[in-house]
Amino acid sequence: MNAPHIDTNVPHPARVYDYWLGGKDNYAADRAVAEAVMAATPGVVTGARENRAFLGRAVRWLSDQGIDQFLDIGTGIPATGNTHEVAQGLNPAARVAYVDNDPIVMVHARTLLKSAPEGRTTYIEADLRRPQTVLDHAEVRATLDFSRPIAVIIVGTLMHIRDEDDPWAAVKAYTDATVPGSYLALTHLTADFEPEKMGALADSYNTGPLLVTNRTAEQVMRFFDGFQVVEPGLVWAADWKHFGVLPPDAVRGAYGIVGKKI
Ligand SMILES: C[S@@+](CC[C@H](N)C(=O)[O-])C[C@H]1O[C@@H](n2cnc3c(N)ncnc32)[C@H](O)[C@@H]1O
Repeated sequence: MNAPHIDTNVPHPARVYDYWLGGKDNYAADRAVAEAVMAATPGVVTGARENRAFLGRAVRWLSDQGIDQFLDIGTGIPATGNTHEVAQGLNPAARVAYVDNDPIVMVHARTLLKSAPEGRTTYIEADLRRPQTVLDHAEVRATLDFSRPIAVIIVGTLMHIRDEDDPWAAVKAYTDATVPGSYLALTHLTADFEPEKMGALADSYNTGPLLVTNRTAEQVMRFFDGFQVVEPGLVWAADWKHFGVLPPDAVRGAYGIVGKKI
């Protein structure tokens, strides 16, 4: 592995999110953006943690459906409840391929590669907008068997992809590579529930090199063409198969949804 190039003067989405999750892998430039967004949109920290909690619930539910292979795109800096930890906690033979384009994630790849001996994990640095580089990657092919169902997990990530870069085509390329019975799980920022707060979030986040895009229910549903959306459908991510008390202070700023390829 080459030493990754980390520019600490430029904010990165993985490090801004790490700050909100209470991590230590962030720098002044990241914290400046994170704090500006917190001032503009109170509740964003709880919202970020709820996004992370969705990941855990989705992976547990998918494991319960018998899924033992996961392609986790937009992995982020390792935090509590990484996909392989949740999946292998239930089935040690589970296999996970992680993908992110932020070099800082590579620094922590060791955590992502700590697989149960019965299973396998891998991490590759790649851009989700170039699906073929991910799908043809030797590590991904050695980890996942595309002739069996795979869950494609893209949590808290597609909002960083502009419309011009056609995130729908990219997601379709990943899901087209999977067999029927596979799943797609994602969360996506939206201003549908709380337009003012989420408009303020995008405005405060998008002042420098970073970008987030809120998307509507109709735009999020377009990722699920050819899928059967599972219960409870397209809902606030914090509410997806969540049976406890919902945090009253979280901004209702993201959809969570899981679908099965038919
Ligand atoms: C908010 S974090 C989400 C992390 C994790 N999936 C979670 O939900 O806890 C978004 C991640 O997407 C990654 N990301 C953004 N654009 C990407 C791209 N074009 N290709 C791959 N990863 C990308 C960022 O580097 C960051 O790690």
